[in-house]
Amino acid sequence: MGEASVREPDGAGAEPGVRAGDGAVIATRALTKRYRGGQLAVDGLHLTVPEGSVFGFLGPNGSGKTTTIRMLMGLIEPTSGTAHVLGRPMPRSARAVLPHVGALIEGPALYGFLSGRDNLLRYDSADPTADPRTRRVRVAAALDRVGLTAAAGKKAKAYSLGMKQRLGLAAALLQPRRLLVLDEPTNGLDPQGMREIRTLVRALASDGITVFLSSHLLDEIEQVCTHAAVMAQGRLITQGPVADLAAGARGRLAVTTPDPADAARVLKEQGVADVVVAGDRVTGEAPERDLAEVNAALVTAGVRVRGFGVERASLEDAFVALTGEGFDVAG
Ligand SMILES: Nc1ncnc2c1ncn2[C@@H]1O[C@H](COP(=O)(O)OP(=O)(O)OP(=O)(O)O)[C@@H](O)[C@H]1O
Ligand SMILES: [Mg+2]
Repeated sequence: MGEASVREPDGAGAEPGVRAGDGAVIATRALTKRYRGGQLAVDGLHLTVPEGSVFGFLGPNGSGKTTTIRMLMGLIEPTSGTAHVLGRPMPRSARAVLPHVGALIEGPALYGFLSGRDNLLRYDSADPTADPRTRRVRVAAALDRVGLTAAAGKKAKAYSLGMKQRLGLAAALLQPRRLLVLDEPTNGLDPQGMREIRTLVRALASDGITVFLSSHLLDEIEQVCTHAAVMAQGRLITQGPVADLAAGARGRLAVTTPDPADAARVLKEQGVADVVVAGDRVTGEAPERDLAEVNAALVTAGVRVRGFGVERASLEDAFVALTGEGFDVAG
């Protein structure tokens, strides 16, 4: 890592003022896409993806994640603004940049009648830079990487969704990559399949590959990503290290008690907003005032308190704090 950015024989550099920042693998400035129908899918996006990060691109359905990824990969033209990938402008430098980028966008295109291995052999032979003499070795290594060696001879149409996703990843990994762009890599997978993809992403990241992955699942991003950006309705709401994003939101006050109804009443009297009772747990928005007083009020009112504290804020808390809405809103 850390070598100079990809060069093209024409030597075309990035325009002044829009160069990718130091160590930024992806940098967009005011990136905007309005579809022909008039839909403003991405609206003035400034995105900075640091080298070596596992970057979560988070947003509910229809928030513009796939549209952004398609612009980054040079598949569609932005309406305005710029996108740099590996320091080069897209889509103009697509031919120089894309060989260094593995992508999996909205489910891989596979030939169902071919085996997993034959699908990869086909992908590899479609790559003019791939040496045919080492093709079988490359394909075997990619299958091994994603844990599909044992199932390599099976027809792809007989693969489970998770196996298909892994085969798509294997195709993206046929060549050494600096960047992997994965659009909802765990979409439709069961918890076991999701865990497997997460483990794989972590392993790739530890090899120094920057991974940019989109998801509409907050806890997934929290589990695997070092950095994240949150989108809503085509606009970037926030971005940064995951720990900082969550820390920006105040956590929820949580009281564990055998007297939840009384506790809820006292908490409301104490100015705690959004009080929610779930079994023996009562939670609410932590108030500005000294929490010792809130605790004392509970005890004075005869509420038996087993547990009292502010839970670490999650990304979901941050999202709700930033947008004032729940996460599963449709775009
Ligand atoms: N080809 C297209 N033509 C017109 N509008 C489109 C097109 N593709 C997407 N859109 C619209 O652009 C907006 C953003 O869509 P996009 O697919 O980028 O969202 P997304 O965040 O990837 O959503 P999801 O989580 O459902 O995959 C949506 O309102 C969508 O309806
Ligand atoms: Mg999408």
